[in-house]
Amino acid sequence: PQNVGILAMEVYFPVTCVRQDKLEEFDGASKGKYTIGLGQDSLAFCTDWEDVVSMSLTVVQSLLEKYDISPERIGRLEVGSETVIDKSKSIKTWIMKLFEECGNSDIEGVDSTNACYGGTAAVLNCVDWVESSAWDGRFALVIAADSAVYAEGPARPTGGAGAVAMLIGPDAPLVLERRYTASHMAHTYDFYKPNLASEYPVVDGKLTQTCFLKALDMCYRKFCTKFQKRSGKPFSLKDVDYFVCHSPYNKLVQKSFARLLYNDYLKDTTSYMSELDAAKFQPFANLSLEESYTNRDLEKVSQQAAKSQYEAKVSPATLIPKQVGNMYCASLYAGLGSLVHSTSDRLAGKRVILFSYGSGLASTLFSIHVRESSTVFSLSNIAKVMDIEGKLASRVEVSPKEFQSTMHLMEKRYGAKDFTPESELNTLRPGTFYLTKVDPLYRRFYART
Ligand code: ACO
Repeated sequence: PQNVGILAMEVYFPVTCVRQDKLEEFDGASKGKYTIGLGQDSLAFCTDWEDVVSMSLTVVQSLLEKYDISPERIGRLEVGSETVIDKSKSIKTWIMKLFEECGNSDIEGVDSTNACYGGTAAVLNCVDWVESSAWDGRFALVIAADSAVYAEGPARPTGGAGAVAMLIGPDAPLVLERRYTASHMAHTYDFYKPNLASEYPVVDGKLTQTCFLKALDMCYRKFCTKFQKRSGKPFSLKDVDYFVCHSPYNKLVQKSFARLLYNDYLKDTTSYMSELDAAKFQPFANLSLEESYTNRDLEKVSQQAAKSQYEAKVSPATLIPKQVGNMYCASLYAGLGSLVHSTSDRLAGKRVILFSYGSGLASTLFSIHVRESSTVFSLSNIAKVMDIEGKLASRVEVSPKEFQSTMHLMEKRYGAKDFTPESELNTLRPGTFYLTKVDPLYRRFYART
């Protein structure tokens, strides 16, 4: 099979959201901390009517219906998520409900978990399956889904929730340039979930930021080396049309892109940027790597030098992440969806690089080459199906107080049995799956609006 990659996408996020400027005020944070400091507009969250399973069911069913794909045509299904609902039963098994009805139980794959990285593990597995001798001609389907919630405190505004489904197969418009994929994996305690009785992570905020940027450096350097070795040409940001970055919050995406420019400078101080920008980086040419992560002047200079390129190459991929917040595994792919949404008429022929990061840590930088397609899998049809504008416009804004009381309710619900949802925030778009009850044996039941 040729041109294996992402054929189709669908995106889902809960209708319930809270505005970051209001949250800032409610939390007593200084004005602008969440909106400018973190760069976020609003945050979506699940009430007790929804969870990672219902969001996954919603996004898969919607993708199958909107692209008219019969469930029999799926031969592999993988889920990337770090939202723990059951320590043994995979999220994938709940989704099998949608395939059992037509008698298709011959579907490989289960869940992948490592913080925000699982979705990427799933994408790479599915692409590799289609490219392997095991492929039977059917499509693969990836679901990246999470509900990201933090305990009260500085990390809470970086929550979010949502799911992305992606159909994988040959002749795709979004082709993975698999041969250039570069990874960096290491053992860190930056963000982890050791307390199995709580949905909240233990997070060392400052350490996550450094681990993130270090992983990006490592991946980018390896990526450039692989690219040069395999294509015979050097690689820099000049070869990149768009950059999609895992987005815990937008400020870190801004810093990440600036960091790539700094890497280009270190690689070759004259070739990859204007003389003016190179001169700005000159004072930092001999900084140790360790120092470079904490040097505020370097951060400022890089962000300034990267600003115009950021607007052109990065900002089209930031719409959903800024509006919905960190969707953990789904965040990177919601960024890719945002890019298709904002540039579908001019994306063909372009190269997109994507950086996936999951704390603990697992990270990969990979490349997508975009092709136009005249089928149902055209870029314009993907943008139409996702209907991101429509989904954002139909959201229900709630007060920070209601958001806080929902978080309290969800703390009570986590790991609980024998209940039916009670939140009054029960507006759901048509076609949304929701939880109807959890029975005394912890079994979960779902229905669709
Ligand atoms: N106006 C404008 N900017 C402001 C204001 C203000 N009034 N107040 C603060 N800021 C800026 C700060 O200068 C800082 O920006 P900078 O980094 O460019 O200097 C930013 O807002 C955040 O302020 P901090 O004081 O650094 O915030 P704090 O330490 O309280 O929390 C953090 C931020 C650590 C990111 C926290 O939200 C967190 O722990 N989040 C979860 C971890 C996370 O997302 N890590 C990222 C990778 S791992 C993952 O994906 C989960």
